[in-house]
Amino acid sequence: MDYIINTKGLSYSYHNGQKALFDVNIAIKPGEKTAVIGSNGSGKSTLFLCLNGINKPQKGDVFFKGNKIDYSSKGLLNLRRSVGIVFQNPDDMIFSSSVRQDIAFGLLNMGFSNSQAEEKIKSISKFLNLEGLLDKPVHELSGGEKKRVSLAGVMVMEPEVIILDEPGAYLDTLNAKTVYKIIDSLSQKGKTVIISSHNMDFVLNWADSVIVLKEGKVVFNGRTEDLFLNNELLNFAVLDEPQIIKIYNMLINKGVIEAGAPVPKNITELEMLIK
Ligand SMILES: Nc1ncnc2c1ncn2[C@@H]1O[C@H](COP(=O)(O)OP(=O)(O)OP(=O)(O)O)[C@@H](O)[C@H]1O
Ligand SMILES: [Mg+2]
Repeated sequence: MDYIINTKGLSYSYHNGQKALFDVNIAIKPGEKTAVIGSNGSGKSTLFLCLNGINKPQKGDVFFKGNKIDYSSKGLLNLRRSVGIVFQNPDDMIFSSSVRQDIAFGLLNMGFSNSQAEEKIKSISKFLNLEGLLDKPVHELSGGEKKRVSLAGVMVMEPEVIILDEPGAYLDTLNAKTVYKIIDSLSQKGKTVIISSHNMDFVLNWADSVIVLKEGKVVFNGRTEDLFLNNELLNFAVLDEPQIIKIYNMLINKGVIEAGAPVPKNITELEMLIK
């Protein structure tokens, strides 16, 4: 099996001695939709920073397309063209003075001309509702606006692998919907998308497979529906059952639907079971 990203025996500790990841072995196939979930402090962001070379593990290895990450500056530059990451906190990634400059930064670094970059900026800004903000200084934006600028900066580069650390955080309903639409369109284009989220209904509906972290260790790695039907594991990892699964189990208990009926991923699929 060819994986686009995998890790072997990855362990990571921060400089202050805080241990964050222990012997993490994961393998992600090209085009797959993977959710990484777990409580606050379980290691999701740390893992993401290892996957695109920002964090260098003290033990174990990270592979991109079967090759160990090359941590030289040239190697990392190449890797980051293929593996883009949108940080959890937008303040960690925005550093240019205007929104336009910020979104353009990666494109110009990749060798696009000013006019090519401008074209791409126009289209992503339209999509992410940023058109009126392009000439504003980034430090004058709201949290949600900054989050959308940081999403635009990575999405505009269309990397093969896109890692989104809590993409819905800071966003209102409308903008969160737009972001989820963009995420879907990335998957449809065949991109590999890895997301962390605390929204279990979103994870159930979106992800092909799930990696669950607890205190820096992988405690589940498999199909989304297998996780959400496993109450013991959900309790162990302190994860909520998605609302859809709660209703599905309730309808089975009441005899409305048969035990073993296909697990619905969203309200439409649940409704079809009842019909
Ligand atoms: N820069 C840092 N320096 C030292 N320790 C850190 C740093 N960043 C995170 N940690 C610690 O590493 C562990 C994992 O943190 P991480 O940010 O990866 O968790 P997370 O799963 O992303 O949590 P959240 O859901 O809150 O975003 C935690 O114990 C945290 O306190
Ligand atoms: Mg995090």
